[in-house]
Amino acid sequence: MDKFIIEANRDLSGKIYVDGAKNAILPAMATCLLAPGKSRLTNVPSLIDLKSMAHLMRVIGARVEYENGEMYIDSKDVCYPEAPYELVSKMRASIYVLGPLLARLGKARVSFPGGCAIGTRPVDLHLKAMEALGAKIEIEHGYIIATAEKLVGADIHFEKSSVGATVNALMASVLAEGRTRILSAAMEPEIDLVIDMLVKMGAKISGKGTTTLIIDGVKELYPIEMEMIPDRIEAGTFLIAGALSTKPVTVCNCEPNHLRALLDKLWEVGCELDINGKDITVIPPEVIKPCNILTLPHPGFPTDLQAQFTVLMCLADGVSFVEDTIFPDRFMHVAELNRLQANIELQRNVATIRGVEKLSGAEVMATDLRASAALVLAGMIAEGTTTVSRIYHIDRGYDRIEEKLSGIGAKIRRVKG
Ligand code: UD1
Repeated sequence: MDKFIIEANRDLSGKIYVDGAKNAILPAMATCLLAPGKSRLTNVPSLIDLKSMAHLMRVIGARVEYENGEMYIDSKDVCYPEAPYELVSKMRASIYVLGPLLARLGKARVSFPGGCAIGTRPVDLHLKAMEALGAKIEIEHGYIIATAEKLVGADIHFEKSSVGATVNALMASVLAEGRTRILSAAMEPEIDLVIDMLVKMGAKISGKGTTTLIIDGVKELYPIEMEMIPDRIEAGTFLIAGALSTKPVTVCNCEPNHLRALLDKLWEVGCELDINGKDITVIPPEVIKPCNILTLPHPGFPTDLQAQFTVLMCLADGVSFVEDTIFPDRFMHVAELNRLQANIELQRNVATIRGVEKLSGAEVMATDLRASAALVLAGMIAEGTTTVSRIYHIDRGYDRIEEKLSGIGAKIRRVKG
């Protein structure tokens, strides 16, 4: 297993570029299943999760070609409605094929995703949405078996904001008969991308950017070309790296509108921010002020940046509180950061972070994707050498992060294992 060896260096400066968003490309790939023919996605980085999704799409009969930042998906021959355990257990986003398979083939057999490192992650809302549209759902031998002679538009009311369930409901309803209303829909930028794609394919959807989406079913959809949106979590991770630096860092090719909650917090801790189109320059403060974070659905502070922001607060001049309301168990990074001599106390889903003058390098272990990014940031500011093992987690969602960060001065190298 590969690991990162990181030497401290806070003198980061220069430009760092953001790739297409993994969490947008995964549902975008599933969306292509709805339009028989060859669609083309651009701004697609090389990520393990996208390769896993491509593998799953091939299993169900799609042709997927993927290189040089482009992905071609030909879904003409989709015929095998099954997402097997081996693939779903590797990547929970496999559940995204449920809606499209039901809409196209009238059936889907998808392995039940289990828990994961960031806690229990149920799929009840996905299933309720499919049932509301007329599907019959059975659970057998660890598999969700969904069948429907036809899907019929309905009101779908989510009691909780869910990105994945909103995407699945959208994908299932665009080909359903009649009108569907998704109430309390999630509003993440990834949902907007899926809506834009579906509309380009010929779907009728209104309410984009709000919590009420209205979908009037159409008979068929057509393949399209679509550029993927920039990854707001990768951008946020780099902006936090800039805030930890001693010199300005410019994060290029991001979408500032998707990052407002983080930008507000960076400003609150004392950073100066210069936004110029799709580039954001962060000028770090001399003294990092403490600040409190509450993760919430978009446009609130994203849970996927909680661990990285916690690293910034480790060096703040005072006490900060970080509460995760989306995934209350998502604090595996705390024990690892404390190994680097951070001072963090965890009570249920609230971390109390007492700022320290410096962190001290040690061996730490990545536990999940975003926690790994946090440990890399921590390694970059911890005195001495930090070794981060199990970095396959980070390769799931960041393309060549060590090369990108080295480009702005980080001393980080990958050791093949
Ligand atoms: C997506 C992102 C993930 C991010 C999360 C929240 C992808 C591939 N993953 O995950 O990186 O952290 O959004 O922004 O895009 N819930 C239920 N029942 C369900 C579904 C969800 O109770 O059927 C709960 C979850 O446990 C969680 C909350 O709803 O507490 C939000 O989860 P959701 O938005 O669905 O997250 P994902 O789509 O799985």
